[in-house]
Amino acid sequence: MIVVSKSEVREIMTMSEAIVLMKETLADLNQGKSEMSLRATNQLRDGNFYLLMPAYLVEKKYFGVKLISIFPTNHSVGMPSHQGVVLLFDASNGKELAVIDCVEITALRTAAVSAVATDLLSRKDAKVLGFLGAGVQARNHMEALIRVREIEKVLVWDISIEASEKFAKEMKAKHGIDVVTCKNADEVVNMSDIITTVTLAKSPILNGKSLKPGTHINAIGASARAYREIDSLAVSKSKFYADKVESCMSESSDFLEPLAEGIISKEHLFAEIGDVVLGKKLGRENDEEITLFKGMGLAVEDIATAAYIFEKKRKLSLL
Ligand SMILES: NC(=O)c1ccc[n+]([C@@H]2O[C@H](COP(=O)([O-])OP(=O)(O)OC[C@H]3O[C@@H](n4cnc5c(N)ncnc54)[C@H](O)[C@@H]3O)[C@@H](O)[C@H]2O)c1
Repeated sequence: MIVVSKSEVREIMTMSEAIVLMKETLADLNQGKSEMSLRATNQLRDGNFYLLMPAYLVEKKYFGVKLISIFPTNHSVGMPSHQGVVLLFDASNGKELAVIDCVEITALRTAAVSAVATDLLSRKDAKVLGFLGAGVQARNHMEALIRVREIEKVLVWDISIEASEKFAKEMKAKHGIDVVTCKNADEVVNMSDIITTVTLAKSPILNGKSLKPGTHINAIGASARAYREIDSLAVSKSKFYADKVESCMSESSDFLEPLAEGIISKEHLFAEIGDVVLGKKLGRENDEEITLFKGMGLAVEDIATAAYIFEKKRKLSLL
């Protein structure tokens, strides 16, 4: 069995490779080439929690589980808010193959999935990228999304002004694109063609009243029931896509709250993004509609990424 560290993950896999792999992974899931049960979300007594996420890649012959802890206030003690490992097994004989740090796997696969959705759903002429949240996921999403659209400007707002300013300085230097901090979330929402929400907010930060026609939203941060980023008006105005219907219906407050309020019905969930990849469901149909991709994060994405890293490390004769 091998152990792959956080820094090695990025040496082995690029964001461009992750985008290609996630497109294939989403299509595989919707064709029955992989299987997954709903993840278990486990609360700790101090308000922190951990997730257990199993998946089986039937055709590729791997199975495994991601075990990830989420400690939202960890930044105050200089530690990441998300930490954990992926355990990878061989499905032909049950042998354990690898333990891989999951911080970079989570960062890569989440942003890569949003890039797949953004490529299918955002306007082709989208130029302004907006972020609500300026942490790990925002950085990775910027790296991924500039690969699928010609982005000229990036806007960012975070509840922490220091976090926004640090993001703007770092990302401008890294990608050579103008990154501007905004005074509030509405400013970002109103001026962006593509908005990505990647915060730890527990009540909505994206207000539907500020949305302009033709916007695409990646709603990524609120992936557990206690969290919510998108208000009911924004959801009701949007053509709504999910990574997996069952995950969305089980844990997404962004969808379940407007559903409970009677503002939307279950049918408001238009399609799974995997079916758009496969051409079974339509993506954007005109320049006016507002599209929203709700990414809850799927175990198949983690196990497919882990399997790719394992195989590439073996191919590079690093094993
Ligand atoms: N859907 C998925 O697949 C998936 C995958 C990984 C992470 N996530 C979620 O994405 C979110 C961001 O993850 P990350 O790794 O970037 O975390 P992070 O801790 O690195 O960054 C979060 C940022 O959000 C800001 N923030 C917190 N509360 C806020 C609020 N109420 N309003 C505005 N900003 C606020 C923080 O200041 C911080 O800069 C988390 O909720 C995480 O659980 C989702």
